Amino acid sequence: MSPLPVLLDCDPGIDDALAIAYLVAEHRAGRIDLTGVVCTAGNVGLEDTVANALAWLDLAGAPAIPVAAGAPGPIAVPHVLTPETHGPRGAGHAELTTTRAVDARDGARLWVELARAHPGELVGIVTGPSSSLARAVALDPALPGLLARLVVMGGTFRGHPGNTTPVSEWNVDVDPEAADRICRVWEDARAADTAVVAPLWCGLNLTERAVWTPERSRVLLAAADTPLTRALVDALRFYFEFHESVGEGYLAQVHDPLVAWLALHPGSEVSEPAHVRVECTGEYTRGMTVADVRGQRGRVENAAIAIDVLVPGGPDAILDEICAAISSLAASPGWPDRVGRPG
Ligand code: BDR
Ligand code: CA
Repeated sequence: MSPLPVLLDCDPGIDDALAIAYLVAEHRAGRIDLTGVVCTAGNVGLEDTVANALAWLDLAGAPAIPVAAGAPGPIAVPHVLTPETHGPRGAGHAELTTTRAVDARDGARLWVELARAHPGELVGIVTGPSSSLARAVALDPALPGLLARLVVMGGTFRGHPGNTTPVSEWNVDVDPEAADRICRVWEDARAADTAVVAPLWCGLNLTERAVWTPERSRVLLAAADTPLTRALVDALRFYFEFHESVGEGYLAQVHDPLVAWLALHPGSEVSEPAHVRVECTGEYTRGMTVADVRGQRGRVENAAIAIDVLVPGGPDAILDEICAAISSLAASPGWPDRVGRPG
């Protein structure tokens, strides 16, 4: 059986970096085919998300996959940067460099081309704002029907508080119009064809349970002391400091690798179907993901909302697996013979 084709759309970002390293590990182990990476402005500006993605792929020894620059900012509002969360360049205390080149295609174009190259097979993972994906569905409205599934880190559900405003999660808050466009497009696609799979929305209600501790960083370094793990640990130290500064303790909620893992393990989540829209106008509620789980709107379900994981040990056990996958990179054949060479 050929490995599962996967596209990651990300905004690295410290927890995005863990997702990248994990996906490269799965690729090198032959379990997935990481067909491309789209970078979107989010945690930092587009230039930095691209440079960081290239550098993390380099450090992880990824093959020469296309990495494309997507949306440079949100649809309707200026892009507001928050360097206190992921550091001024998006990599915390890690210093990244790369010689890997960016693909000439626009990120939205890469979404479309990879979906068309793997009709019904591609797994799309979004760990940043939906701005590039919103452009991709404008470019090719057939996109929802071409994907095997879409897994999004975004929003917050079931009354769980936001991390950006009291009701909004960062990725959605950056570009609510884009996230809402995704909801509308999948609603239309599913109204026309019930075979189209509703995206899995993984919100803070679940992802905040993925907690990376200093002890886990020690375990990672003890298992594999490499340029990749040292850079991840340096980046994570900044993320610990950020979480401590907002009263969460000296730890880090690592949303994105959990979502990447869920994307590769369909059926490992507990979810509920819903009709989701994103509030784009409310003075106090902009960026809120509003889920109708009772069918009160009478609309086609356009989302599955992740509620829990069906894994003994929960998100912590999943992080154990991710940690092991990343440390196994050092032992994978050809590593660290990297810098853009097919692996
Ligand atoms: C999301 O926001 C970003 O800061 C993280 O990378 C994650 O994707 C969590 O709200
Ligand atoms: Ca992210």
